[in-house]
Amino acid sequence: MRFDIITIFPDFFRGAFEHGIIRRAEAARLIEVKLHDLRAFTRDKHRQVDDRPFGGGDGMVLKPEPIFDAVESLTGASGRESYKQGTRVVLLSPQGRAFTQELAEELAQSERLILICGRYEGVDERVADALVTDEISIGDYVLSGGEPAAVVLVDAIVRLVPGALGSETSAANESFTGGLLDFPHYTRPPEFRGMQAPEVLLSGHHAEIERWRREQALKKTKRNRPDLLENAELDERDKALLEKFDNDI
Ligand code: ADE
Repeated sequence: MRFDIITIFPDFFRGAFEHGIIRRAEAARLIEVKLHDLRAFTRDKHRQVDDRPFGGGDGMVLKPEPIFDAVESLTGASGRESYKQGTRVVLLSPQGRAFTQELAEELAQSERLILICGRYEGVDERVADALVTDEISIGDYVLSGGEPAAVVLVDAIVRLVPGALGSETSAANESFTGGLLDFPHYTRPPEFRGMQAPEVLLSGHHAEIERWRREQALKKTKRNRPDLLENAELDERDKALLEKFDNDI
């Protein structure tokens, strides 16, 4: 899988991609990440990537020409309708649709992702209209640019690429799969500063451990993200437990 990142701050990414799973996946040639400096696609002598907004207002808007040139030179296509199958062009912006685990799983199926990092007050809307297949936001807050959001996307997607994680099972069996938050984890020592790791986890009784983990995942989801319960896969026992938590409060 190949990632192309179009940005005015290519150096922003150097450290971010030099660690952990992303670096290992690149070294194993499971993925390839290429950085493209938007300024290299300007044609004027000041290498200007932004300009004042039509209609007035504060801030600067990223101009369309360098972004169109960058995407066209990478895809060899002119516009959204003519990309090769498996290519998606993503604009990171706070106006995008929400990035979720489900969307990460969908994007992990593509062969090539071109990520455009927005900046300043915005990006000329003709980019979203004609070039972009997906406009994506990583959350309801405003970053000063799309770069941190691009790192988030690459990280969440790379760990879903087959072979990128040490163990094939570890990507599936965790938070959000099945719609619940992850259960709590403990490791040695069993007692730390007077705090005891739950006895059941040391018991070796697998069925009971599974039951405890499910109960804890439900409890944590109910406390921290009750909105997730609406779409979670719950059986009758789960529902009874949730009701019991209600009564316990
Ligand atoms: N650029 C600025 N804010 C952003 C956000 N929340 N998500 C993605 N890109 C952004």
